[in-house]
Amino acid sequence: MQTEALDELYPSHLASVSADTAAALDKEGYDGLVLHSGGLRMVEFDDYPYPFKAHAAFRLWAPLDGTPDCFIVIRPGRRPRLLFNSPDDYWHKPTPLPDSWWTGAFDIEPIRDRAGARAGIPKGGRVAFIGDPDGFADWGFAAVNPAPLITRLDFVRARKTAYELACLRAANRLGARAHAAAARAFEARESEYGIALAYMASIAVREQELPYNPIVALNAGGAVLHYQVLERRPPAEHRSLLIDAGATFAGYASDITRTYSFRDPDFATLVGRMDEVQQALCAGVRAGVDWRDLHLTAHRLIAELLHDSGVITLDAEAAVETGLSGVFLPHGLGHLLGLQVHDVGGTLASPEGGDIPRPPGHPSLRLTRVLEEGYVVTMEPGLYFIDSLLAAAKAGSHARHIDWARVAQFTPFGGIRIEDNLAVTAAGCENLTREAFRTLS
Ligand code: GLY
Ligand code: MN
Ligand code: MN
Repeated sequence: MQTEALDELYPSHLASVSADTAAALDKEGYDGLVLHSGGLRMVEFDDYPYPFKAHAAFRLWAPLDGTPDCFIVIRPGRRPRLLFNSPDDYWHKPTPLPDSWWTGAFDIEPIRDRAGARAGIPKGGRVAFIGDPDGFADWGFAAVNPAPLITRLDFVRARKTAYELACLRAANRLGARAHAAAARAFEARESEYGIALAYMASIAVREQELPYNPIVALNAGGAVLHYQVLERRPPAEHRSLLIDAGATFAGYASDITRTYSFRDPDFATLVGRMDEVQQALCAGVRAGVDWRDLHLTAHRLIAELLHDSGVITLDAEAAVETGLSGVFLPHGLGHLLGLQVHDVGGTLASPEGGDIPRPPGHPSLRLTRVLEEGYVVTMEPGLYFIDSLLAAAKAGSHARHIDWARVAQFTPFGGIRIEDNLAVTAAGCENLTREAFRTLS
């Protein structure tokens, strides 16, 4: 896969992260920071670990995903040190010392265990610690996981560096390739499990290496927002596929959803209309836009679509005002994306904290900030036929505004979500996902 010159982009990324961190430490009265990648967690009463994932604040500095008990020691003005955990262990294969586009920026020192790390941690001064809080209480840190410092670091993570954008583009190219393989498996009438395997095999990953468990929902399963089942047997009839799955590149995630109709022309038309809505919403993404306004625009556009498709009889404005559109779209329009799929700080009012409120009646919105150049967001309008929400609607005042025969026609197809990843640019936005699909062919 072609990637941009990460070795050329990484130094200015590190300079930017170092400057942001130094400023945050200064504001909070610390003169150093130790980032701990995290500890391995064992299953209770067993000797088997859960998959390890280093936390994002650590991976912002170094794309080391798979090694617990590594430490990055940060002293503003000095080169960062990486205490790299390379245990003497004949049960497991120790990770070799990293040697990559980013390693030249660090002084790398191998350690055998936490005790080895303790000897290498700075003594004296006010040093903060971020990581697994268990086991570090007596190491002399001025604070363990201090919330005000973490808030400051979270806030600035919304704005991506050129290096991060390159990684997010690469994660989208991997995701697009895997989505294409999944679509072929759906055409071949595979099971949900078979489609997931095709997805992972096409980019040679195992499930724990994906940024989140893939949502592979055939037929009515598409109405379950975070559908977690991978049914092993193909259904008697293939009607639809909703697949929400991403990929990881250097720790950065893509988060992509596509919905397909197998052979049904009415559902295919609905998917096509939804794609138009999604693209219209993408066109509204630029610096200065309040994401809450775009979310409410999405509700209006989807209410129009539902009205024009004969699903509801109320006009769009009234459907949004009365909450009828929320019966079909109960989640937010999108979220920040980066080292975490639902990246941090989506509702932060400032580096000091504070919450930007969600619009009344829209409790699931994860992003309420005004967009700025460098933000990366997902654009994921949805439209679902969810049994429990429809049953509640049927029992209440919405009942007479819904065409229940039309609902019954679409319920076996589950729902539709179309999700792209967008980077806000000086000129508007770059659709990382559409560009990735375009370069596939
Ligand atoms: N894949 C979870 C989401 O779209 O937010
Ligand atoms: Mn998703
Ligand atoms: Mn998403």
